[in-house]
Amino acid sequence: MHIRTFRNGDEPALRAVFHSSVHALAYKDYTAEQLDAWAPRQYDAAQWGERVRGNQPFIAEIEGHIAAYADLQASGYIDHFFVAGAYAGRGVAKALMMHIHQAAASRGISQLFADVSLTAEPFFTKSGFVVEARQRVEVRGVVLANARMCKELSFQVA
Ligand SMILES: CC(C)(COP(=O)(O)OP(=O)(O)OC[C@H]1O[C@@H](n2cnc3c(N)ncnc32)[C@H](O)[C@@H]1OP(=O)(O)O)[C@@H](O)C(=O)NCCC(=O)NCCS
Repeated sequence: MHIRTFRNGDEPALRAVFHSSVHALAYKDYTAEQLDAWAPRQYDAAQWGERVRGNQPFIAEIEGHIAAYADLQASGYIDHFFVAGAYAGRGVAKALMMHIHQAAASRGISQLFADVSLTAEPFFTKSGFVVEARQRVEVRGVVLANARMCKELSFQVA
């Protein structure tokens, strides 16, 4: 596995990972209507491109294929964290989360937080995050449950 930074042109491949992740992994926790509202097949490519270029995610590649991506904003917010269905359960999320922690340390970020799906919550808990609030968010007219989770980072003072 190789983790690299975002490159212009990655946008459609990241959309495929996002769609696959939601439909192949999150289906256990959400209804078909909720999954379609969250990750519709038809999407606005310009809007999507703007979002991912703005987020500048880290990208996990396996044998040249994009397996997952996740970002870290200057505030410590993780906007997207998605592993493609075919690559789940192989430690890809763990590697990306470690990368995010390293990036946070080098950027002097002291707290991580994210709006985490019910599907990803056990993984975030395992990664040391705690639930700050349970939320109900409306996406394209459909309500989904998720949780605001956060993690305080401690830095070693040399
Ligand atoms: C949650 C998700 C990111 C996990 O990705 P993954 O690559 O399968 O996770 P990993 O293989 O790296 O697992 C890392 C650890 O978390 C644990 N873990 C992962 N998913 C878990 C789950 N649903 N329940 C319990 N433990 C879980 C693994 O057992 C592993 O534990 P270990 O370190 O003791 O071996 C992935 O399933 C996903 O993308 N889900 C759907 C999309 C989504 O909800 N994204 C997040 C939006 S905030």
